[in-house]
Amino acid sequence: MIDAHTHILPEIDDGAPDVSVSRAMLERLAVQGVTVACLTPHYSPSDSLEDFLLLREKSFRKIKDFGPEFNIRFSLGSETFLTAELLSKPKEYIEQLCLNGTKLLLVEFPYTCAFGDRTMYFIEALICDFEIKPVLAHIERYKALMSNESVLDELIDKGCVAQINLNSIRRGTFIAKRKLLRFIRDGKARFVGTDCHNMTSRPPEYKTNIDIIVKKLGERFVRDFHDSMERLIAAERSDVNA
Ligand SMILES: [Fe+2]
Repeated sequence: MIDAHTHILPEIDDGAPDVSVSRAMLERLAVQGVTVACLTPHYSPSDSLEDFLLLREKSFRKIKDFGPEFNIRFSLGSETFLTAELLSKPKEYIEQLCLNGTKLLLVEFPYTCAFGDRTMYFIEALICDFEIKPVLAHIERYKALMSNESVLDELIDKGCVAQINLNSIRRGTFIAKRKLLRFIRDGKARFVGTDCHNMTSRPPEYKTNIDIIVKKLGERFVRDFHDSMERLIAAERSDVNA
């Protein structure tokens, strides 16, 4: 099972404050059956990209050895704030923000983002000029996407992948939870993640939430969903290597 969105890397953003917390988070994920953890620290394009990549590498080195210990594979990436500034960076640097070896870039926006013309332009530029596939982090946070499904459909048509935070399947309003499950069922949301930051306020809760999906959509569906997530990552990876 893949956790597509985590802040497990220590001492880099508002995620794990130190290595011991990172280790505890990984252990918790492993116990729940997670075998792939995407490491996606926040990156704001107003900061130096070179500095971020160096810091990410330094942070990754501190937890690298926990992978074999917990039987978890890592995929290094980022959660990048999509702004005009990002698009002014060199392509080869932006590619390093993508999930390791793929063209999948986890992107976030201000919560109040209306996904108007300007945002759509940024997304199109990322897809067309940089040949990157945006993964829209926690779509449930954006009122514009939750209240107007046609906007989400348009983004998916353009080539975006929608990601849902697993906790939202358990903690949102009845209507929102039902909608998220439908997005998963209908193939609109193809990635899920814990978006875990620590062991207290935002812990790596995976299985309890997956179990809700199993209960509503069936074990077979969830198995296929995970396979499809894995296939999508593999497909993007082979494109890069082609
Ligand atoms: Fe996040």
